[in-house]
Amino acid sequence: MRFLPATKAIPKEMLPIVDKPTIQYVVEEAVESGLKDVTFVTSSSKNAIEDHFDYDYRLEHKLQEQGKHELLKVVQEITRMITVSSIRQKEPLGLGHAILITKTLIGDEPFAVFLGDDIIVGEVPCMKQLLGVYETHQASVLAVQEVPEEAISRYGVVAVEPVEPGDDRLFTVKDVVEKPPPEKAPSNLAVIGRYVLTPTVFEFLEKTKPGVGGEIQLTDGLRSLIEKEPVYAYRFQGSRYDAGNKLEYLMATVDFALQRKDLGEQFRAYLKDLKL
Ligand code: G1P
Repeated sequence: MRFLPATKAIPKEMLPIVDKPTIQYVVEEAVESGLKDVTFVTSSSKNAIEDHFDYDYRLEHKLQEQGKHELLKVVQEITRMITVSSIRQKEPLGLGHAILITKTLIGDEPFAVFLGDDIIVGEVPCMKQLLGVYETHQASVLAVQEVPEEAISRYGVVAVEPVEPGDDRLFTVKDVVEKPPPEKAPSNLAVIGRYVLTPTVFEFLEKTKPGVGGEIQLTDGLRSLIEKEPVYAYRFQGSRYDAGNKLEYLMATVDFALQRKDLGEQFRAYLKDLKL
């Protein structure tokens, strides 16, 4: 709702940052982390997301005819990037529920979860960092980041112990609480929208009752998972933009535009000239 009226007829995941929809940045992180099979959990108003990654014969034909080879390549790469499946979440019953309904597609395998609002940039893609931890420990891993006290109640927050004394990146999760008031937050480490999960989580999501906001919370499923098997938190390297927040969306737009080879220089000059 935060981006109305822009999102009246298009899903928020299709809002562009410079010239790419936000969802494409997220998908590119998956691809750069070595993942190719993507399942979108969508709803009736989100068909544009699947269409974006689908083959568009008419567009490709037109670009070919007009000799726009560079653009044609850009469009073709999007289609070839991933194999897509999707599943409809018929009612907005929460993140835990959104993950639970993918069980039939995922089966008995570990899987990665990307929340579309979080755009993360860094030298090593955030998900690749989490998968590295998974490779070593064969257990679920949550991406975490320190957040200021006034923001903590917007997140799942972890109570942790370092895996090795002095390790300030990798932690064992002792507890996780969804959107606590600041005085009840177990730490300043917030869960960011990247997870590697073992399929055991499905067992617990099936039993999870609606929690905060009347939704089936992934956090509550994770809380039960911790009782059964180790769960890790990884303080990833990189910066993250909450593309669902207008100010951070604008910041992402400026930062990404400045990094563009075709726009960066002129845009920088324009910004420098602004009498702010
Ligand atoms: C969800 C999760 C929360 C997590 C956050 C990360 O909340 O429930 O635990 O910290 O994503 O962005 P939402 O932002 O959907 O309210």
